[in-house]
Amino acid sequence: MARFKLYPSILSADFAHLDKQIKESEKCGADGIHIDVMDGQFVPAITFGTPIVEAVRKSTDLPIDIHMMTVNPEKHFKELIEAGADSITVHHEACHDLKTTLEELGKHGVHKSVAINPDTPVESISNVMSMIDQILVMSVVPGAGGQSFIHESLTKIATLSNDIKSQGLPVSIQVDGGINSNTISDTVKNGANILVAGSAIFNDSFSICDGLSKLRNAI
Ligand code: DX5
Ligand code: ZN
Repeated sequence: MARFKLYPSILSADFAHLDKQIKESEKCGADGIHIDVMDGQFVPAITFGTPIVEAVRKSTDLPIDIHMMTVNPEKHFKELIEAGADSITVHHEACHDLKTTLEELGKHGVHKSVAINPDTPVESISNVMSMIDQILVMSVVPGAGGQSFIHESLTKIATLSNDIKSQGLPVSIQVDGGINSNTISDTVKNGANILVAGSAIFNDSFSICDGLSKLRNAI
């Protein structure tokens, strides 16, 4: 089985104990922390911005992976990177001119990533594959945690994985939404190498360490 990384998504975390939960994630083998920035325009919900990124940066040395579900993402690159972001994902569907947005992101020296919604075909980002470090395949409609994995995403992951291998590109495939111990194995088998999970790690039924173990053991 190929190597894969697990990134807890703090959208489902207990914000009264965020520092403790981030530290527990790190202690139990998380490979990065995924932060969902929602603006109430690209998606209906609003979540959090720079102050939370700063707080997470103080709690851990793990890579901080920002998933921007926002219009005009470039307006916030500088402040998010100064706050501690290591990688930034913009949504293909939110950018008027994706190449220009990625060029702007490239000036800041962080990992560049593009997300595609469940309805967006993989071909829509073929013109930027050589510009990016990561593709985020959304396996739920973006905007909320705790939704069910959309199984059609597996075909998209496999297609992208074949394209990346055949072109020899250094691009990771991240998958976000509905990842749990029933769905993780198929995503990795089809070529995903970074798995984001929120409610399967932060919940009232088991500890963060048990959540991470369940996911690793399910592969
Ligand atoms: C959804 C977010 C996800 C969310 C995933 O729009 O992008 O990162 O936290 O939550 P789960 O793992 O519960 O589907
Ligand atoms: Zn996300």
